[in-house]
Amino acid sequence: MSLSRRTFLGATAASFAAGRVFAASKAKIRIGLLLPYSGTYAALGNNITDAMKLVAGKLGNKLGGREIEWVAVDDESDPAKAPANVNKLISGEKVDILTGPVHSGVAMAMMQIVRQEKTLTIVTNAGAQAVTGQLCAPNVFRTSFSNWQTSYPCAEVMLKDGRKKAVLMFWNYSFGQESMAAFKEGYSKGGGTIVKEIAVPFPQTEFQANLSEIASLKPDAVFVFFAGAGAAKFVKDYADAGLRDKIPLYGSGFLTEGVLGAQGAAAEGIKTTLHYADSLDNGPNKKFRAAFKEATGREADVYAVAGHDTVHVLAQALDKVQGDTSAQKELIAALESVRLDSPRGPFRFSKAHNPIQNIYLRQVKGGKETVIGIAQKEAEDPAFGCAMVK
Ligand code: PHB
Repeated sequence: MSLSRRTFLGATAASFAAGRVFAASKAKIRIGLLLPYSGTYAALGNNITDAMKLVAGKLGNKLGGREIEWVAVDDESDPAKAPANVNKLISGEKVDILTGPVHSGVAMAMMQIVRQEKTLTIVTNAGAQAVTGQLCAPNVFRTSFSNWQTSYPCAEVMLKDGRKKAVLMFWNYSFGQESMAAFKEGYSKGGGTIVKEIAVPFPQTEFQANLSEIASLKPDAVFVFFAGAGAAKFVKDYADAGLRDKIPLYGSGFLTEGVLGAQGAAAEGIKTTLHYADSLDNGPNKKFRAAFKEATGREADVYAVAGHDTVHVLAQALDKVQGDTSAQKELIAALESVRLDSPRGPFRFSKAHNPIQNIYLRQVKGGKETVIGIAQKEAEDPAFGCAMVK
């Protein structure tokens, strides 16, 4: 008996229509990658992609029994180009599942289209609140974080350190703005005062004038959002301006993720909050970090972990529906019931489809990201305005 005939007969016993399973077993599954492969976030896009391909390779390059076909588009972290790029993947390339992006502004443009087209979408980085808040949708899941999750807990950390007067500094687009709002919510609740907010246009990295201003304002601490190449430069400029030992830096963990090597001694002592740390002492983390290093020659980071988890999430759910992406209702239910033993720790989706996950307090010591505690256990984004949350 041929393999396909055996599959066909076996499937009739299952709850799915046999013809559908038969067809699904033959067609490749097309996975869209809408990610930055150029510009300040290029390293982030590459780490997500490489981790996804690495995990897929270990699963025989198949999801739900269907061979994977990747379709990648460089989104350049440019929201203005996002509608065309999303349409290219959905209408042009006819992807079965869309993944990405890194930049929250790109994610906001993407949301409008995928809500309309009902494309099954997994957001692999962008933290924009609306993705799993006001614009939440049954067909949209996020495997990374919301910016609230990564920024709110840092306020309490700073206050506990006795730092009650802060300057905020950030790239002035949705992620930076929302990250600062989440931080301020916790900081003012706990009695902290914001001395000044310094908004820098994305992706500008000229910080000198701002650093002089911070020196003259003399706050107790600075809370920051920069990421990728911009974060590497900011932390070095901060130390070069003589501020490192005078006014401590805090931030969401993106400030040091993937750029610790480039920052060197300038990053020493920085405390951040994030849902991952290199040094997390669990089996999946050790195994994944070793495999990623072997495959790419680079260290894994929070972006690579998002790629890793995205493919595992898809594998679990697609196995349940035997690769049948047209059975969207069943596939969504399967995604909702996913449980992962992730390198970041336990992972499950909230009702709004955002991860419920631990937020760790990390500090750079001896050039390494050490975990000094859990800032918020099983943190769940408040999902403001999400109609799926009752
Ligand atoms: C975002 O735009 O949502 C974003 C970008 C880079 C990060 C984190 C969040 O490292």
